[in-house]
Amino acid sequence: MAELKDVTFRPINTEDIPILNEMEKSIFPGIEYKDETWRYFLRNTESSIIALKNDKAIGYVVSCFLYQNTDEYTPYMSAAGYIYHIVSLGVLSEYKNQGIGTRLLNMCINKAFKIPLKYISLHVMDGNMHAMHIYKKRGFKFGFHVDRYYDSGEGGNFMYLNGPGLRVVLDEEPPLVKE
Ligand SMILES: CC(C)(COP(=O)(O)OP(=O)(O)OC[C@H]1O[C@@H](n2cnc3c(N)ncnc32)[C@H](O)[C@@H]1OP(=O)(O)O)[C@@H](O)C(=O)NCCC(=O)NCCS
Repeated sequence: MAELKDVTFRPINTEDIPILNEMEKSIFPGIEYKDETWRYFLRNTESSIIALKNDKAIGYVVSCFLYQNTDEYTPYMSAAGYIYHIVSLGVLSEYKNQGIGTRLLNMCINKAFKIPLKYISLHVMDGNMHAMHIYKKRGFKFGFHVDRYYDSGEGGNFMYLNGPGLRVVLDEEPPLVKE
């Protein structure tokens, strides 16, 4: 695999939302988060990271506590009512297969597990073999399948990774959600 030459990484903040929108359009055509949704995600910026090459944004990972009220998510919660979820990970197509996605994933997990979490999780679309490969290689396990998870009608696979946290934090609010 090529070296990550000249690629730098830094935390994402809300000023990066226009850049995230631009990358998202190219990486996930037809899927669009509203600015307010990005802002909700980025209330926790600790483990949301952008990759840059010569100051150009070329990839990102965004993760945060997400409220879930369906039973299937209960075993994977890291705080009462909340899972800690990688909501988006992407690399511009011309920079794929250079290890940038793997690096973003690892940096995100390492930062998030300082909280410490019981689990970190994500959804991956049926048939997305590239993404599944890097998740499985990092130790993510299959949790359950969600039919028609995506607006396009595709199913999603919920995957999770065990973290260092030993128990669910029973606070009312998860530790990193900022108002
Ligand atoms: C999935 C994605 C984030 C991966 O980022 P990336 O920087 O291209 O990935 P990496 O270079 O770290 O991955 C390389 C590894 O994937 C493997 N790989 C590449 N294409 C593959 C494929 N079609 N099927 C299985 N494995 C594949 C390579 O062999 C390599 O494996 P190795 O590390 O064991 O040698 C990126 O391709 C992307 O943005 N895809 C579109 C958006 C997306 O699907 N995001 C994930 C949403 S859940």
